[in-house]
Amino acid sequence: MKFYVTTPIYYVNDVPTVGHAYSTIAADVLARYHRLLGDEVLFATGTDENGLKVVRAAADRGLDPQTHVNQMADLFRREWQSLAISYDDFIQTTEKRHRRAVQAFMEALHRSGDLYLGEYEGWYCVSCETYFREQDVADGRCPNPECGKPVERLSEPAYFFRFSRYGERLLKHIEEHPGFLLPEFRKNEVVAFIERGLNDVCMTRHSDWGIPLPSSIPDSEGMVVYVWADALVNYLTCAGYPDDEERFQRFWPADVHVMAKDIFVRFHASLWPAMLMSVGLPLPKKVVAHGYWTLGGKKISKSRGAHMPRPQPTLDVIVQETGCTRARAVDALRYHMLREVPFGQDGEFSGEALLGRYADDLGNDLGNLLHRVLAMIGRYREGRLPAPCPPDPALHPAAVSAAEAWESAMEALDFSGGLKAVWAFLAEVNRYVDQQAPWSLAKRGEEEALDRALYSTAEALRIAAALVSPVMPHTADDIEAQLGLRGWKREWSQTKEWGLLPGGGAIGKAEALFPRPDRRKAQAAPEQARAKKEQGAMISIKDFQKLDLRVGQVVTAEAVAGADKLLKLTVDIGEEQPRTLVAGIALSYRPEELVGKKVVVVANLEPAVIRGVRSEGMVLAGWVKGDDKSITLVTPDRELPNGAKVT
Ligand code: MSP
Repeated sequence: MKFYVTTPIYYVNDVPTVGHAYSTIAADVLARYHRLLGDEVLFATGTDENGLKVVRAAADRGLDPQTHVNQMADLFRREWQSLAISYDDFIQTTEKRHRRAVQAFMEALHRSGDLYLGEYEGWYCVSCETYFREQDVADGRCPNPECGKPVERLSEPAYFFRFSRYGERLLKHIEEHPGFLLPEFRKNEVVAFIERGLNDVCMTRHSDWGIPLPSSIPDSEGMVVYVWADALVNYLTCAGYPDDEERFQRFWPADVHVMAKDIFVRFHASLWPAMLMSVGLPLPKKVVAHGYWTLGGKKISKSRGAHMPRPQPTLDVIVQETGCTRARAVDALRYHMLREVPFGQDGEFSGEALLGRYADDLGNDLGNLLHRVLAMIGRYREGRLPAPCPPDPALHPAAVSAAEAWESAMEALDFSGGLKAVWAFLAEVNRYVDQQAPWSLAKRGEEEALDRALYSTAEALRIAAALVSPVMPHTADDIEAQLGLRGWKREWSQTKEWGLLPGGGAIGKAEALFPRPDRRKAQAAPEQARAKKEQGAMISIKDFQKLDLRVGQVVTAEAVAGADKLLKLTVDIGEEQPRTLVAGIALSYRPEELVGKKVVVVANLEPAVIRGVRSEGMVLAGWVKGDDKSITLVTPDRELPNGAKVT
């Protein structure tokens, strides 16, 4: 199978923002996923260089237009490379191959009888590169609500495209191909737009920057192709149109065009399909519009000036705040953008939310899980994987359903839904580790069960690596390396298989995938100075929210041999197994008076071994400083179920 996915080609008057990055990352995820399926993928992106804006921007910089566009195209290339965008083709519309394609396409339009010579009289917005009708322009300003800049009066001979002919055929196509336009609610906007009646579109203008109309079209002297018609044809150019017949047959029609809603209704969902119908070419299979990334509720764009979130400074912040590598920050940004907002919706861009996801989803759910499992394989099996075991019923079906959910999500372009399903699987794996409690199996000498638990969790992580790999390619590589899979050829089908990790294989070096911000800062400062500084220091609500405080009930309590201040408790905090923890409360509570008591537990405290007992949490208590007998447990004022969150 082949798979051809495109992003919009971006105007070179702008530097890349997180908004541009979003479309490009989404397309990259599709491309990577299809490569894993074994498809022959063509992933094309590029820059839109023939607009009027370019001449002005180049003049402002004192450059000739071609030098200016080449520099800007390089900027975009570098940006995408740094974000692990695996494009196969980067098109600049000033390239020869594109000029050839656009001219051939205009000839085809002319042959079809859909291009006619008329007089253009009306308004043109240079900023939007769009012509507007008389009745749409009030007080000389662009009617696009996001623009509103002054429009220019134009009156000149021009070629028009008989767009008005295509309303019925477009509506029919949309109706007969339910998956053609996504999301569904935007499809309705397109239908409404077409039903209001289509006006013919001016396809040329007079300029000396742009692609000249071919001389085979009469009276075309001095005319260049309207930049939008030129830009849309890029999707054909990248597929080999018009000269590489074999490539074109292979890749056209495109499988997915990705973009935001700004260029969906008028251009990609109606004008473009009509142009293709006119020349008799098949239509793209899917045209998909996502929402806007906003800042303070307004679309992120160049006009936001210094406050505009851009990918590189965002990566800098992630690295500074967490101490992670840049590759990891790239993965975190990619994950965050696709997970945070359902694909069709707008979303507010927030560094806080990004760091929150970093800590919770990536640090806790994924990174810690890997770390725990590898540490146990290190400790109990000298760093070698146990022999493969049969599919574990607690994990294998969960892996298969996550893979299937991801597959449907890729069809529906539901990135956040797909990731949610993968994280539901990770939650299963985390739960499995807690339930199996390999540390207890080890203590009880249940070697076979321990082998099974360790192998199964490692195998689940191998699957998780493949599942997350389209979104987080670096992380997937590193998980595989830590599992000892070097030179592993990843394929999608492996996400549903079991037992692929080789038994006896040596695991790689365990390194924190997503280092915790607090830990890094702690390492930087000498221990005592830090403790002093942190006491009384302000913490943010975000810091506080990191605490997983839960209501628990003491199940058993006993003294700890050789320690008169300590008690060993088991506390039910709503998990399958009660937690074991050690509390320094023996001078104020006798074990028997604790059983049944409701307490508050810090559930996400790193486990520690205290006097030979592994303590997996802490109970909250107050005291009068220096008086151990005054220690008083914090207990809920009214009845709350075990496991209830305390916030
Ligand atoms: N050159 C045209 C596209 C021609 S495609 C044949 C163009 N360029 S653009 O530089 O303005 O890019 C618009 C696209 O950039 C949007 O459709 C979207 O893909 C992406 N985005 C730019 N800012 C964005 C947000 N703030 N939020 C989401 N996507 C954004 O239009």
